Amino acid sequence: MSSATATGPLLSVQGVTRSFGALVALDDLSFDIERGEIFGVAGPNGAGKSTLLNVCTGTLKPNSGKIFFNDERIDGWSPHRLCHKALARTFQIPQIFSSLSVDENVAVGTLFGLGKKSIEGRTKREFRDEILAECGLDPRRDMMASTVDLLTRKMTMLAASLATKPELVFMDEPLAGFTTEEIDQMVALILHLRKRLDITFMIIEHKVRALTHMSDRIMILDHGQRICLDAPLNVMRDPRVVDIYLGSESVA
Ligand SMILES: Nc1ncnc2c1ncn2[C@@H]1O[C@H](COP(=O)(O)OP(=O)(O)OP(=O)(O)O)[C@@H](O)[C@H]1O
Ligand SMILES: [Mg+2]
Repeated sequence: MSSATATGPLLSVQGVTRSFGALVALDDLSFDIERGEIFGVAGPNGAGKSTLLNVCTGTLKPNSGKIFFNDERIDGWSPHRLCHKALARTFQIPQIFSSLSVDENVAVGTLFGLGKKSIEGRTKREFRDEILAECGLDPRRDMMASTVDLLTRKMTMLAASLATKPELVFMDEPLAGFTTEEIDQMVALILHLRKRLDITFMIIEHKVRALTHMSDRIMILDHGQRICLDAPLNVMRDPRVVDIYLGSESVA
């Protein structure tokens, strides 16, 4: 079903469980992501956040449960097939081609991920130019990825994911390793892209304060279970969340 005809939430995770041997990393987890929202995910180390992202983007298969994207069941699909369905992801450690320029990295996204999606009459060059401009990467487009700073590398990885023309972008710790100033820049960019390109984001982040600034809703995971899912201010006031984070510098 296409997004034009789908009526349910953009993504619906229903009773998903994923174990590694005896360890239950995701424990009968359910939640929905609505179109256009920034959906934050936080929780302590080992809570199951990356496993959730891997299960939603096809890197891991769930042991049980169902995942729907635009009302179509997608659990167990390959990452490539999901990418062609308009699901994209970025990684905590930037995964880009260091021997290519910023622009060429974005071109790789289009080449492998655009599939049959429409770019509405634009040439691929024009489409890439728009993405580079929206990401503020235009002045750095010809720089080799090996020579740019961490912020530019992460922005390039995000731009390459946008070049696949996604409806939903999953980001694993986009703010890791950043200074306060860089955090502000990346948060501003994500908010800008949501507005300009009509993209929905699921963002996993340990920097909870920054996550509360950009998210419409936040889900807290612990031991693979949903502890809380609400508007950021309610989440931060929830005694169960305070309990989990008490004494942790992550929440500061
Ligand atoms: N491939 C794997 N094989 C075995 N155990 C795994 C594997 N991947 C994750 N785990 C375990 O599953 C649990 C959840 O891991 P996961 O990486 O999803 O946590 P996380 O919330 O992303 O943690 P962090 O905040 O440290 O990134 C952990 O106990 C982890 O050790
Ligand atoms: Mg993780």
